[in-house]
Amino acid sequence: MKRDSFGSRLGALMALIGSAVGLGNLWKFPYMAGSNGGAAFILIYIAFLFMLCLPLMISEFIIGRRSQSNPVGAFRKLAPGTKWYFTGVLGVIGAFVILSFYSVVGGWAVKYFITSLQFGFTSATGAEAEFNSFVSSPVLPVVMHIIFLGATVAVLWTGVKDGIEKYSKILMPLLFLLVLVLAIYALNLPNARMGIDFMIKPDWSKVNSSVILNALGQGLFSLSLGMGIAITYSSYMNKTENLFRIAIVTLVMDLIFALLAGFMILPAVFAFGFEPTQGPGLLFIVLPEVFASMPGGGIFAIMFFIILLVAALTSAISLLEVIVSYLIEEKKLSRHRALVYSGIALVITGSLCSLSQGILSDFKIFGNNIFDFFDKLSSTYIMPIGAFFIAIFVGWKMKRKHVNEELDNNGLLKIRLFNLFWFLVRYFVPLAIVVIFLNMLGIF
Ligand code: PHE
Repeated sequence: MKRDSFGSRLGALMALIGSAVGLGNLWKFPYMAGSNGGAAFILIYIAFLFMLCLPLMISEFIIGRRSQSNPVGAFRKLAPGTKWYFTGVLGVIGAFVILSFYSVVGGWAVKYFITSLQFGFTSATGAEAEFNSFVSSPVLPVVMHIIFLGATVAVLWTGVKDGIEKYSKILMPLLFLLVLVLAIYALNLPNARMGIDFMIKPDWSKVNSSVILNALGQGLFSLSLGMGIAITYSSYMNKTENLFRIAIVTLVMDLIFALLAGFMILPAVFAFGFEPTQGPGLLFIVLPEVFASMPGGGIFAIMFFIILLVAALTSAISLLEVIVSYLIEEKKLSRHRALVYSGIALVITGSLCSLSQGILSDFKIFGNNIFDFFDKLSSTYIMPIGAFFIAIFVGWKMKRKHVNEELDNNGLLKIRLFNLFWFLVRYFVPLAIVVIFLNMLGIF
């Protein structure tokens, strides 16, 4: 079968950025920073991005472009007759787990978009009660989640994915501008200073083993790492692409969006007297207050939620693509069949996640409701474990010469930091992940 490849350098890069920038930056990062103590978490997060996530992303690129296949096939091809392909299978499972709760949050965004069209963010108070009553109701959020999921399936079904990526070329800069405007507005609210301090003055006493693990999980989540997304997209890249540069650009863009989202949400949290430790509802509770208080807020709300939806959609597409391309290439299903089966399964698991905010809230798995369990299972277990094996694979299983060839495109490019990269993948990344785990288990 002939595989597609990206027509242009921008195509591959936009798809990667589309996957990376999403709810992870705008919804998750602010509340993770809020719940994990603010500035100290953010600094650890940034350190992990450059020292751990960057080498990992490059590692996935190397595996993907060298093998030119889906994550499972990639390991089969590069290490035939071994069990390495389980790393790819783990990624498929991870994508499924993430998409289950991701599309629930996507559904929340659909609902808030609809509210914005009715200019519904007018109450100066009550955003919190409204959010809580919405997410805990048994029908509406489930329906919204199915709409979001349906849109994701529809995009892959009709093959308009490329079209979406073309749109995101325009929409990403627009999202950037919007978030920038909102952040500037939030920074000028009364009491915003407390939020700014919270984001830039580290309080190291708040750092414990779970804060560190959360920072790692958030970095992997936000950059879509550890589950073969970068393997999949780089398998479509052509052999002249500079992998190192693509990785850096993706990382920096993703970081900028996360920080801007933080500066949009956290000052407003303090200005309106909320708690930064709210958890997953933070964005949806704080923003309505921002829009209600802002001149022209109604228009900003509409623009914000529509672009948030597109950003969420391009990430959800990349997750579903991991599952679907596995079912097609490894299980020999037709594309449409693969989409129907995975769609049905996701409606079920996603509905459970949604209901766990309400009628199923007493059903706990290891002390977490289903939504939180899926979230933790993916970000703090599946992704770090996947990342660990990817680093070991590139650092210890692949030949140094082959790794180097992928990075310098067979000698065409001059790669100055190869030794640093090689050290990070071989030693630092795997050891750091093991230490973070042992630390969390209380071994030290
Ligand atoms: N990185 C995406 C986001 O920030 C989420 C995601 C995680 C996508 C893992 C793919 C894989 O929203």
